[in-house]
Amino acid sequence: MQAQYITDLQKAYMSLRSKTDFCPQVLLVLGSGLGDFANKIDKVAQVSYSEIEGMPVSTVSGHVGKFVFGYVGDVRVAVMQGRIHYYEGYTSQQCVMPVRLMGMAGAKLMFVTNAAGGIKYPEIGALMRITDHISLVPSPLIGQNWDVLGKRFPDMTKPYDEQIGKIVDGTAKELGIRLGTGVYIQFSGPNYETASEVAMARTLGADAVGMSTAIEVIAARHMGIKVAGISCITNPACGITSMALDNVDEALAVERTGGKMQELIFESIKRIKDLI
Ligand code: HPA
Repeated sequence: MQAQYITDLQKAYMSLRSKTDFCPQVLLVLGSGLGDFANKIDKVAQVSYSEIEGMPVSTVSGHVGKFVFGYVGDVRVAVMQGRIHYYEGYTSQQCVMPVRLMGMAGAKLMFVTNAAGGIKYPEIGALMRITDHISLVPSPLIGQNWDVLGKRFPDMTKPYDEQIGKIVDGTAKELGIRLGTGVYIQFSGPNYETASEVAMARTLGADAVGMSTAIEVIAARHMGIKVAGISCITNPACGITSMALDNVDEALAVERTGGKMQELIFESIKRIKDLI
């Protein structure tokens, strides 16, 4: 973090606070195609990234770029409808600014979702709870450490909270939702991986591939925010089947299991509230 970044983050926080005094307990990060979840919470306020001074703005179509604040049951939730991707040309530090802002605003748990290519579960619409990650992009913690947020060398032994993971698994079982578990790997994108890169990822222990999430999780853990995450598989990763990735249909995956994923996340959030 450079001095300018810290200034920008503080400015962004003040700017956010001039628009809402909502203090979320949970931050829900929505991946490609999953933005509609934001319309399902009991909304009390919303703030576009573009209204917040110093915030990067998502340039990806299908990523709206706003915070939606409201309730899931009686839990205060901030939804990040649209994330900032490394492949848009932003630095890792810029990509995690919304996560840091919501941490500063009070979030104690981050529930991340993403669209991913499947290695272990290649079926379109499969849901995988993320148990660990591998990051192939620069850490968002590079640069001067800002001790107000967290320490210089944060532990990454168990970035995804096991106790919360068990609750999510139990909730899925009760709801009759099939939920696998596995390791997510973040490539930079925006190109999809080659078959050899996916083979490498598999050898490294990865079960799903994508272009987000790991750096957000690093930033959250740096701040002591607990993390849970689910990947929605939109395609078999390159080379896992003969399917070419020139027409990945996120809408199909969302149509198949998006509703279930939303139900699972909302029910889990209600059950996790005593842990946060
Ligand atoms: N690779 C990387 N990111 C992705 C993929 C993939 O196969 N599918 C959806 N997001």
